[in-house]
Amino acid sequence: MHFRSLLISAGLLAAAAFTNAAPTKVARQSGVPKIVVAHHIVGLTASFTIDDWKSDIQLAQANGIDGFALNVGNDPFTSTQTDLAFQAAEQLNSGFKLFFSFDMSSLPCTTADGGATLRSLTNQFASRTPQLTVDGKAFVSTFAGESCTFGAADVPTGWRTQFTQHPDTVGKVHFVPSFFIDPATFNTFTGVLDGAFNFNSGWPLAISEANAAQTVPDADLTAATFSAQGETELQKFIGAFDPDTSFINGLAGVQGSAQTYMAAAAPWFFTHFGADTFNKNFVFDGDEHLWVSRWETLVANRDKVNLVEICTWNDFGESHYIGPQHGDLPPGSDAWVDGFDHSGFLSLTNFFATQFKTGTAPAISQDQLVLWARPHPKNATPNDPVGPPKDFQLFQDKMWAVVLATADGSLTLSSTDSDAQTFPITAGVNKLSLPIQPNGSLHGVLTRNGQTVIDLQAGNFTFNPNPSAFNYNAFTVHATSQ
Ligand SMILES: *[C@@H]1O[C@H](CO)[C@@H](O)[C@H](O)[C@H]1NC(C)=O
Ligand SMILES: *[C@@H]1O[C@H](CO)[C@@H](O)[C@H](O)[C@H]1NC(C)=O
Repeated sequence: MHFRSLLISAGLLAAAAFTNAAPTKVARQSGVPKIVVAHHIVGLTASFTIDDWKSDIQLAQANGIDGFALNVGNDPFTSTQTDLAFQAAEQLNSGFKLFFSFDMSSLPCTTADGGATLRSLTNQFASRTPQLTVDGKAFVSTFAGESCTFGAADVPTGWRTQFTQHPDTVGKVHFVPSFFIDPATFNTFTGVLDGAFNFNSGWPLAISEANAAQTVPDADLTAATFSAQGETELQKFIGAFDPDTSFINGLAGVQGSAQTYMAAAAPWFFTHFGADTFNKNFVFDGDEHLWVSRWETLVANRDKVNLVEICTWNDFGESHYIGPQHGDLPPGSDAWVDGFDHSGFLSLTNFFATQFKTGTAPAISQDQLVLWARPHPKNATPNDPVGPPKDFQLFQDKMWAVVLATADGSLTLSSTDSDAQTFPITAGVNKLSLPIQPNGSLHGVLTRNGQTVIDLQAGNFTFNPNPSAFNYNAFTVHATSQ
């Protein structure tokens, strides 16, 4: 369990590598815990009380999540809210872990002062009980940071001199940032990268409307749904391990690195801010059961992945939250978040997180059904000045269904009175889908031996052919058998 001396020598090897051309490489860390954490945007917690933090921690932990990566930016409440999060975890005393994910798109990093801020925050919490550690060192991650020089001549020198090898923090941090760079250049970050976090690996970024003719040639992107061949082509990208492989290979080139690899898993992505606000209007394709497909990939490759970071717990503005709607929303995002519950995604997390951590699928003691869909046809044309989000064409007009089944059975899906289809269900994980009709809703009925086990309807959800604005967020519902 404790390999402190190995870690210290890893640091020395990293330092030695600056002057010694001989390749030095340490074995992959055995002290890195195999855990699942979730990205928590502290910037949306200005109004949190300690009880808000406790309820988030308890809900996350009840769903197989072992910690929060605290995404902190340049907010006046960063230190006070981080302290409340740590107090909440300390009071619960349930083993929940916390660590910083410094948001370098917000924190200043063009001068040495920026490094001082990171060191000060790190050291303020490093010895608190909930701090995630690797062999006694504080685990520290980032969002971005690939352009930070901290006043040095280049980025690697900046991170090295102002953070990982600075006298305040040297030997005290295990640094696993998410730099958005070509992993082939990781080898220039000797003495910086103990590992890497692949933030974008949760989504199929390799496919876009622009390259669809090459990547998914049989998917007619103008159509509401695609041919079976087009879907098969999509499935090669959705949840795929290729982005992980390039990171893992890149880390292998970093002399002296522990090569800790943290992968991402995400349920969805849609953001819709106009040029007058954040000017972000795009989707990543979450179809083909991305949330489950990605987990299945991570389970299949679990020997190559140290940690999984769920993206995210509460990033409402980008629609990839799995936590409940509380705290603040980025201004304007209530238009696509209000009423769009993602607890269906959360409800699937424990099963896959447990399987990732242990290598064994947990026993399914109750049947579970989750349904989700977007709220309007992909080709709807609302009078929305922001315009349609980039790459919306990749989506299909479908409802997506997942059944965790205790035994074999049947699932009947329908969106209207006249489009029901019945699918065989086998014990374990089942992924189904059905085209969703304009004005349709979500309805799934799980039966076994002639008995209804689950009858799940999405209440007031309507697939509205005439929406007043673009909304490509997902609406989820879920139910378990009694
Ligand atoms: C459905 O109804 C609930 C409760 O009245 C409401 O909060 C939610 O916004 C509605 N959802 C949609 C998609 O209209
Ligand atoms: C959807 O419902 C609206 C309102 O009831 C109706 O006017 C419209 O014709 C329906 N569209 C379809 C495609 O069924």
